[in-house]
Amino acid sequence: VVPPVPAEVLLGFGAVSKSLADSVVVPAGYTASVVYALGDPLTAATAAYKNDGTDSDFETRAGDHHDGMELFGLSAAGLPSVTSVDRALLAINHEATTDQTLSSFFLHANGGTRTLPRPAVEVDKETAIHGVAVVEVRKTGNAWSYVKDSSFNRRITALSEVEISGPARGNALLVTKYAPTATRTRGTLNNCGTGKTPWGTFLTGEENWNGYFTRGAADDAARGNDKSVVSLKRYGRTQGATSRHGWESAGADDKYARWNNSKLGASLDGSDDYRNEMNGMGFVVEMDPYDKTRMAKKRTALGRYAHESAAFGPATVGQPLVVYMGDDSRNEYVYKFVSSALWSVADATAVDRLAVGDKYLDSGKLYVAKYAADGSGQWIELSMSNAAIAGFAAYKFAGQADICVNARLAADAVGATMMDRPEWCSVNPANGEVYFALTNNSNRRAEPSGSSQVAPNGPNPRAYTDLKGTSVQAGNPNGHIVRMKEGAGGNAATTFSWDVYLFGAESGASQSMVNLSKLTGEQDFSSPDGLVFSPYTGICWFQTDDGAYTDVTNCMMLAALPGQVGDGAKQTLSYPKAAGGTLDVDTFVGKAPTANTLKRFLVGPVGCEITGLCETPDGKSMFINIQHPGENTDQANLADPAKYTSQWPSNAGYGAGKRPRSATIVITKNDGGRIGS
Ligand code: FEO
Ligand code: CA
Ligand code: CA
Ligand code: CA
Repeated sequence: VVPPVPAEVLLGFGAVSKSLADSVVVPAGYTASVVYALGDPLTAATAAYKNDGTDSDFETRAGDHHDGMELFGLSAAGLPSVTSVDRALLAINHEATTDQTLSSFFLHANGGTRTLPRPAVEVDKETAIHGVAVVEVRKTGNAWSYVKDSSFNRRITALSEVEISGPARGNALLVTKYAPTATRTRGTLNNCGTGKTPWGTFLTGEENWNGYFTRGAADDAARGNDKSVVSLKRYGRTQGATSRHGWESAGADDKYARWNNSKLGASLDGSDDYRNEMNGMGFVVEMDPYDKTRMAKKRTALGRYAHESAAFGPATVGQPLVVYMGDDSRNEYVYKFVSSALWSVADATAVDRLAVGDKYLDSGKLYVAKYAADGSGQWIELSMSNAAIAGFAAYKFAGQADICVNARLAADAVGATMMDRPEWCSVNPANGEVYFALTNNSNRRAEPSGSSQVAPNGPNPRAYTDLKGTSVQAGNPNGHIVRMKEGAGGNAATTFSWDVYLFGAESGASQSMVNLSKLTGEQDFSSPDGLVFSPYTGICWFQTDDGAYTDVTNCMMLAALPGQVGDGAKQTLSYPKAAGGTLDVDTFVGKAPTANTLKRFLVGPVGCEITGLCETPDGKSMFINIQHPGENTDQANLADPAKYTSQWPSNAGYGAGKRPRSATIVITKNDGGRIGS
């Protein structure tokens, strides 16, 4: 009789300590290697990356600030495969770029021009390092590398033509000089979180796009103070707003002028200027990673906001599909989209994958979450059939396209719950519960003042005013992870229950007000951002992007084996009021983790954020991204590499030059086991 194979122990690795080293630290028995870094050539004809600021041709190189990422398997014959473990395409977001005062200084030989106007040659580089890449990776022996001359390699930049799809296609809100019929726009921008559809396409979320546009100082009056002014203000562009990089200043060509969102022309519809250009950003964009001849599509039915990931709930034959999404800005909302079409398993292997996307992602209902203090909640549909939207005094909606383009205003109208910056979400494959990383919120206060501060609520209960004695910053500096369980109706449910799975905190902080999850030194973290359940091991991986804990440790990735909604207990946080008495906030704190259910797995190099996660389907090769190492380098020190805060990955033996580079790494286990065991 053959004895049964012992069950694999997940989280069997030794926890990694907090680290300030300029390197990637993984547990004993694991190896991390760089496979694809900023500037790496993506065609045979592209020159090797010199990494000294003289490189060009970024349309055929890796972009900057690697972020969300999904893996799409390739068979030996180069066909889509869900079982291949040694050949794949990585679809990777290139979110942004390391900059100080307009210029992406590591990209330019002398640090670039930090005054307006910006030179076109610099702006052309900077627009090209934003967007998305598809890059082939292969395993030879035990080593992974990217394939420089793969025919699948592709870049989409901030200027690539993209199709508008869904309710806002052809709508007046998207008319521009470039696209008078409102069916196209240029580029995708600030691509942050990602998603993978059940039919094998890539979803990428557009996040902090608004900061790239400028508006004239008298633009409100130029627009006749019409409702577009209300929209622009709600999306963070007051008149006189300046742009992050000054791209609009580089010349008269429309590819620069488009970044000026002012009303400049005389037309009534916006077909002679770029007054509506910003309405073309802020969507979930779908791409077919296997077919670079197909234009990407902006799926406007999923709403326009600062998108992070797009996570599907369980796909059940005959049931609608659901996509969960967050809006990562302070005091913004949690959303879900429920498809009109019911899932047909034949669509999982369809050849025209974007046509399947048309079927499931262009028609459906968009909902926003409203959490109640008793641990329940409601999904509220954003449609003209809701009287609060149809009769909203602050903004007169013209129909569903307008609701999708101005989803934040529609969510305001129905009184959705303001959250502490919803970053990635992911669905637990064990039970369908959806987890949202809420990264932090400097504007949460027990006694709010001014228009931007808000009071704590059940799912966002921490709101310090003065815990300076324990060096805790004001607001909710460490973030937390909320989870939700759908009520009756599954994907289409209009009710849910919730609790807080974990609170980020320093392990030494007060367990009654701060370290509510009782984290130990092997578990403590701050500002969760990336969050992905492995479909292969079920481990919940989450990653940090922290401003509050980087004096103690670089950003990190942890592995967790969570329970379920309701496994903890109700807790009341009591805030003293200035005038006496207390503000009492009830919340629900998930069961505290043990040393076996939450463990730090990785710490990154200096100045980086850890983000993006995908695996081969055997669970044995994991790809993650190291975003903006050395971000906190002073550009005045560009000539002296010794003064860079990070020299990664050159100090790990990867590539030329000492300028730090965002990069994808692959993690393998030396004994050939699954990642996280
Ligand atoms: Fe791109 Fe919200 O992080
Ligand atoms: Ca993020
Ligand atoms: Ca973040
Ligand atoms: Ca970042």
